[in-house]
Amino acid sequence: MYEWIKAIHIIAVMSWMAGLLYLPRLFVYHTAAEVGSVQSETFKVMERRLLKAIMTPAMLLSWGLGLWLASLSHAWTMPWFQAKAVLVIIMSGLHGYLGVCVKRFTKDTNTKSSRFFRFLNEAPTLLMVAIVILVVVKPF
Ligand code: HEM
Repeated sequence: MYEWIKAIHIIAVMSWMAGLLYLPRLFVYHTAAEVGSVQSETFKVMERRLLKAIMTPAMLLSWGLGLWLASLSHAWTMPWFQAKAVLVIIMSGLHGYLGVCVKRFTKDTNTKSSRFFRFLNEAPTLLMVAIVILVVVKPF
């Protein structure tokens, strides 16, 4: 049972990560599109669908199954898990911020540059590397 929950947890995390890595990249292209253009309106649909249909359900599933695993294994007390929890909370905050950006793009009120979104694109990568090392290597 535990191994099945873990497998589905990893599948959910991969779907969530795919969105966290792709959405800021869409923002990079969207900032270059003229307001009101066909491209800009197409990016709005792509961004909203990616967030609502894939990323948010995948995040909720990752959290639900991750907390289930933690309650079965009593991981709460382990330092690697506590460090992972902090990073996952930061990742969820990033998800929330990307949702704010989607809303701004929808209303054509984005003020951030493509350079900003290029930098933002690095955050989920760095968090993912640290989280996977913590959960697999368990260095402490
Ligand atoms: C959303 C909140 C999350 C919670 C509460 C959570 C919790 C857990 C727990 C308790 C385990 C079992 C660890 C074990 O049996 O050794 C696990 C496994 C795993 N988690 Fe998460 N996790 C979350 C999100 C993530 C994220 C964002 C990633 C990657 C970016 C991730 C990657 C993994 C991997 C790769 C495993 C399998 C590790 C192994 O068995 O070797 N998790 N998670």
